Order: sequence, then structure tokens, then C-alpha cells
Amino acid sequence: MTQPARIHQKQIDSVITALESKVRNLFHGEGTGHDIYHLKRVLNLALTIQEQEGGDRLVIAVAAFLHDLHRIMEKESGSFCPPEASLPQIRTLLDETEIPSEQREKICSAIEFHEEYDFSEQGKTARDIETLILQDADNLDAMGAIGIGRTFTYNGAQGTPIWEPALPFDRLSFDESAAADPSTIHHFHSKLLRLKDNMNTETGKRIALHRHEVMERFVKEFLDEWAGKK
Ligand SMILES: [Fe+2]
Ligand SMILES: [Fe+2]
Repeated sequence: MTQPARIHQKQIDSVITALESKVRNLFHGEGTGHDIYHLKRVLNLALTIQEQEGGDRLVIAVAAFLHDLHRIMEKESGSFCPPEASLPQIRTLLDETEIPSEQREKICSAIEFHEEYDFSEQGKTARDIETLILQDADNLDAMGAIGIGRTFTYNGAQGTPIWEPALPFDRLSFDESAAADPSTIHHFHSKLLRLKDNMNTETGKRIALHRHEVMERFVKEFLDEWAGKK
């Protein structure tokens, strides 16, 4: 690693440590899969992708670490809360850092657009590499073994059954703002198994391949066991 890169990483580490001391309590007791460890995993994934794909490493790291404050607001209000609703709180947190205003705006923009999907009604609008990397990292944490664990936790917290065999998979539409899926296994079909083809970066696509296979195998095993075949 070159000397400037090492200095840059040190700066990132100290900004994240300072931010963690301010947001950690907000995430205490978060039981829907959007806890502080989700933020840290997305941060690590985003930095892994950045090493291959480029982009502003500080912007990507901070945006990844703060991207789901809107989920805390959602939990408090009891109703859907889009990422942009968290921007005033995020701007307040960023005002207390040394991050230059141009980078702060890029952080806010990445957070605002991190929940865009090719398969949602509006599609994707973000074009900057920082947002594209955050989208990939966040979606990767919804895939694979961790994704399976998180989706059962999330849906369990909403009271959604694990599987509802009477209802078919077809004609499932994706709507992040509504608890539209009749069961957690339906959610694999309406969203999680579609994420592989929703990746933006080559690095994201490569990591997604394995995580997708893990989920496909899991759903097949689940349905075989449900049918008493194994
Ligand atoms: Fe989010
Ligand atoms: Fe997230």
C-alpha cells in the first residue's frame, strides 16, 4: 500500500470511530437485521469493492456506515420511512466532522439513492460510482448466508410466516414500502433472488454469484424438507 493510501485509511478509520460513538446507541436493540453490524458489513463490502472499482473511498465508507439511519426512524414511527427522510439527521452528524462540504453532499446523495433497484417501479437513476458501490454492498448483505439470516429476522419481526404454500410465486411484485410478501420464502422470489442481476459493478457481480447460489440451494432444500422429501 502506498503512503498516501495508508494516511487516507487512517482518516477514514478515525471518522468512522467518531461517528460510531454517536450512532451506536440509536441501533441498540435493533432486531430487524438493520443493526450496527449490518452497517459494518456494508462498510467492509463497500471498501472491498472500491479497491477494484475506484471512487472516493471516504465518501463510500461514511455513506455505507450511515446509510440505514432511516430504518431507525422507521422503527420509531412505525411506518415506512425512505432514506431521504434521514438526511437532516445525517447532515447534522456530518457537520460535526472535518469532511469537506463537497464530499458531504456526495455522502448524502449516495444515502438518498441507495435503495434503487432495476426491478422497482422507478428503476435506477444514480450514475456516480460511490452510490453504485453502496447499492452493491447493501444488496450483497441481503444475499448469501447472512442474507438468509437477515430476511428471516426481518420478516419474523413483522410477523410474516416463513412459508405460505397455498400462494404461488408468480406475479409477485417488488415494493420496498409495503410488507407485500405473504411469506419469507416468497420474499426470496420477489427480491433476494433478483439481486444477482441487479448488481452495478463487476466486483459486485462476482461476489453476488456465490451468494446467489447459496440462496438458491437453501430455498430448494427448504421446499424439499417442507414436502417431506428429505
Ligand atoms: Fe436502507
Ligand atoms: Fe442497508
